[in-house]
Amino acid sequence: MPCTVIVGGFFGDEGKGKIMSYLSIKDNPKIAVRGGVGPNAGHTVVFEGKEFKLRMLPSAIINRSTKLMIGPGVLVDPNVLLKEIETFSAHDRVKVDRQCGVIEEKHIEMDRGDAYLKGKIGTTGTGCGPANVDRVRRVGKVCRDIEALSRYIDDVPYLVNEAISKGETVHVEGTQGTFISLFHGTYPFVTSKDVTASAICSDVGIGPKVVDDVIVVFKAYVTRVGAGELPGELSTEEAERRGWLEKATVTGRVRRSAPFNYELARRAVMLNSATQIAITKFDVLYPQAKNVRDFSQLPKEAKEMIDMIEKETKVPVTIISTGAEAEATIDRRRELGFL
Ligand code: IMP
Ligand code: MG
Repeated sequence: MPCTVIVGGFFGDEGKGKIMSYLSIKDNPKIAVRGGVGPNAGHTVVFEGKEFKLRMLPSAIINRSTKLMIGPGVLVDPNVLLKEIETFSAHDRVKVDRQCGVIEEKHIEMDRGDAYLKGKIGTTGTGCGPANVDRVRRVGKVCRDIEALSRYIDDVPYLVNEAISKGETVHVEGTQGTFISLFHGTYPFVTSKDVTASAICSDVGIGPKVVDDVIVVFKAYVTRVGAGELPGELSTEEAERRGWLEKATVTGRVRRSAPFNYELARRAVMLNSATQIAITKFDVLYPQAKNVRDFSQLPKEAKEMIDMIEKETKVPVTIISTGAEAEATIDRRRELGFL
């Protein structure tokens, strides 16, 4: 499918990085373009056997032939971005839109020093909220103002739309998750922007009619960092016992956890117009599913859970992640008529 949008269906940290990096190898997109808030995101990808945490670049980084772009709706922290470009020697395949907002040191200080943001909301302290405030006030810098980024600056919406109109494959990578959307999440315990599929499209400059598929990513259980409601939340001890205790990529905080939530999943499917569902960390719930690549090899209870998700959401589960490596994936897209 030429244009696929991938978004988070719960509170972020659904394992989008794994899904997006797998898809980049499998579908070989010409372009992977990032939408979403900014470097508050943390996507884990496994590249040549090593684990990397990405905060600015698309997770398609693991496919060396894919062009990596950042849309104008995304906030850029030039220090974080330049370091990632260096780490992956990605100098020749990164394009940053000239209108991306810029996170400056003062925004990070404001985010970390603010009793409400840091204390009550529990932000990531990466400066995103305060930088978006400056953007709305129309006083913030944009990437075309930043000398150190000059070689990467381009017109990303133009490049993305041009590729789509030529029928080339484009992956649009969302960040965060539906229920920390500023509009659709558990306000005020949310991030500083909408992060549902429509917003992600707007971030990169595409309209809804060019999107062929929207993949909403759910983890096999629900986690959340920072404050705000989490229905069915487990105690830390119980989370540890089940093997669900995780640490956040960006902040290192312990993630709170709860069982898979069908009601939230239904709502996320609705808000994102999802056409497909990807499930991650399935091997954490079903150890026998570890590294399984064929649906028929899944244990019975695991298959029953997939059936239940499909029944409740009325959307097919096309991708099931069964381990950290890109190859540990069950891909049912062909069998279900999506490819
Ligand atoms: P902010 O986006 O840093 O302002 O943080 C606002 C809320 O969103 C906090 O609860 C953060 O923990 C949460 N948040 C922001 N980005 C992410 C993410 O990528 N994954 C998970 N939670 C996030
Ligand atoms: Mg994350």
